[in-house]
Formats: sequence, structure tokens, C-alpha cells
Amino acid sequence: MKKIAVLISGQGSNLQAIIEACQTGFIPGKVVTVISNKIDSFGLERAKSAGIPSQVFLRQDFSSNLAMDKAIGDYLDALNIDLILLAGYMKILTKPFTQRFAGKILNIHPSLLPKYPGLHTYQRALENGESEHGTTVHFVNEELDGGAIVLQAKVPIFPGDTVEEIELRTREQEYNIYPLVIKWFIEERLKLENGIAYLDASPLPISGYAAE
Ligand code: GAR
Repeated sequence: MKKIAVLISGQGSNLQAIIEACQTGFIPGKVVTVISNKIDSFGLERAKSAGIPSQVFLRQDFSSNLAMDKAIGDYLDALNIDLILLAGYMKILTKPFTQRFAGKILNIHPSLLPKYPGLHTYQRALENGESEHGTTVHFVNEELDGGAIVLQAKVPIFPGDTVEEIELRTREQEYNIYPLVIKWFIEERLKLENGIAYLDASPLPISGYAAE
């Protein structure tokens, strides 16, 4: 069984969707550890309820971001992790970490990348008068929200929508597309080579599978 690690900072609702997809067998893998950089992440409770060990790494306990990421990396290597998932992990990973695990880290980001990397994506889309928004699953490289895109899901923005409504609509899509991409990776259908994502040995287009 392939081993999955999930990195979180907050609510962990994506973590929950991933745990459930493993439990039902939709993802033929196992979440063997949950890592948080916040002691009070609700996701840690979710891990506990599912019987999954968790580990907290606090920045204040390390002399630098590099030292913290080295410790996380050593912990992951000791567990022989096959796939690292960022699920609302709100700390930028250092280049040595992303290079150490190149092709083995996926992230979900609440925008149609390359639009709106970074924070407050819903608010920015609303303020810019966008008529659609969405979410993206992508491989992680050293650029913030910059690695090869695997899959996107679009949602409409209706006149009069609030940030909360757009977020709710987008999150519903996240719980579908992230487990699907994870399934592809665990089944060895999805790979990253020279910065390009391949599904079933065919290169994915720049906006991921959904664009075609
Ligand atoms: C998710 O919506 C995810 O897309 C976003 O944080 C949320 C975490 O929610 N990630 C980012 O903004 C990363 N740049 P969750 O803790 O309930 O899964």
C-alpha cells in the first residue's frame, strides 16, 4: 500500500475528503501521517478520529525555515513516504525541500492558476469582477503555486455573490478533484518529468486535464 503524508495548517476539510477516499478504497493508498505547522489545527483532531498519527512542527522551534523543512523531510524519509500532499498548508516550502521531493508533492490552490496565486483569491476574483473562479491541483516546485497543473475545476461567480458563497462553491469542487488526482498518482498513471505532468504517458496541457 502506497504511503501518503498530508501537510495542513487549519481546518483540514480536504484532509477529511482524502482520508475518506482512502477508507472507501477510491484512493488505493493510506494516509500514514498528518503534519501541521499549527498546534491548534482542527485537522489534527480529524487525524486523531481516523486513528492516523500526527506530528506538529512549529517554526519557533527551529533556527530557520531551512532547518524546519530539513526536519520535516527527514521525518518523511524515515517513513518512506510515496506522496506528500499539501492540504491548506499555509507556509511556503523551501527550495531544498521541494527539490528533495520533486515529483512527489501535490498542492490544491483555490484559484484557476496561473491566475491568483497567493492569498485572498476569492476576494480578489470578486473585486476584479470575474465571472468564474475555481481550484487547481498542481505539482509543487520552488515557485509559489507555480508547478505543473494537473486538474482544474471551474465554478461560476453570480452577480451579488459574496466571498463566502464563492468559497463554498469552490470547496465542493476541491473535495472531488483532489482525491481524483491523488488516485491517478497512487495508481502510477500520473507522473512529473522535467517539470511536465504526464497522465497515462501523455503530457497534460498547460492548464491541466480539464482544459481539453
Ligand atoms: C483549501 O481551500 C485550499 O485550497 C487552500 O486552503 C484551504 C484549506 O482548507 N489552500 C491554499 O490557499 C494554498 N495556497 P482545509 O484546511 O479545510 O482543507
